[in-house]
Amino acid sequence: MKGVILAGGLGTRLRPLTLVTNKHLLPVYDRPMVYYPIQCLLNAGINEILIVTGGEHAGDFLKLLKNGKQLGIRHLEYAYQEGEGGIADALKLAEDFADGQKICVVLGDNIIQGNIKKAAGEFFTQGSGAKVLLKEVPDPERFGVVRFENDDPSGRIVEIVEKPENPPSPYAVIGIYFYDSDVFGICQSLRPSGRGELEITDVNNAYLERGDLTHDIIEGWWTDAGTFDSLRRATNLVAEGGANLCELPKTPAGAGA
Ligand code: G1P
Repeated sequence: MKGVILAGGLGTRLRPLTLVTNKHLLPVYDRPMVYYPIQCLLNAGINEILIVTGGEHAGDFLKLLKNGKQLGIRHLEYAYQEGEGGIADALKLAEDFADGQKICVVLGDNIIQGNIKKAAGEFFTQGSGAKVLLKEVPDPERFGVVRFENDDPSGRIVEIVEKPENPPSPYAVIGIYFYDSDVFGICQSLRPSGRGELEITDVNNAYLERGDLTHDIIEGWWTDAGTFDSLRRATNLVAEGGANLCELPKTPAGAGA
């Protein structure tokens, strides 16, 4: 399975910080935000990675990550998203990279404490379709939220609603998704939402309609980091609780203290 990190967008909720760099290069405790989704994939044994980014600071990813070897990435590619078409629009750029294989897609501002290795293994043996990961949260209206059959969290998902005013459950769909190669056809068939974007929630609902969506509820904490509040929360969680992290690569000799 290959890994795709979506790290585009304008990061408008973090202005003025994002006027001078890409959101995913901002610090979360002791390392740039994008290191966390990379580590998440590596911890699951996924070491062929595509980073989809865009905007005027896209070149900074290359300066930071180079060919990824320092971080333990076996093969690193980059794709450039023109414009702001949303998550499912960015995902279209991964079709050639995926080359017919299953993929794990991670949003570049999502950080988890635990490991997705078990879920990745389950998805690998799942014949086709998609898998989403859920977490109970106090503020579900900020996310894609699932409605369970008979409101039973141990049961089937019947619908996913993007940023609902009245959340049908407290379970958010986190920004780590597993897809088979049909995902690209689904992305091509989507229509923009009210906010003018191709929504990842519509992709997941398409798999749900086919009866081909599984889910897991993740253990450990999860946070996004795309607002000042969640960025602070992410920093505190990482500082206090760790996040299954690797040792940072050594500073090159002569680079100073
Ligand atoms: C996006 C998705 C949402 C998901 C969230 C996870 O939201 O649209 O369904 O729950 O990521 O971080 P956004 O970051 O665009 O607000």
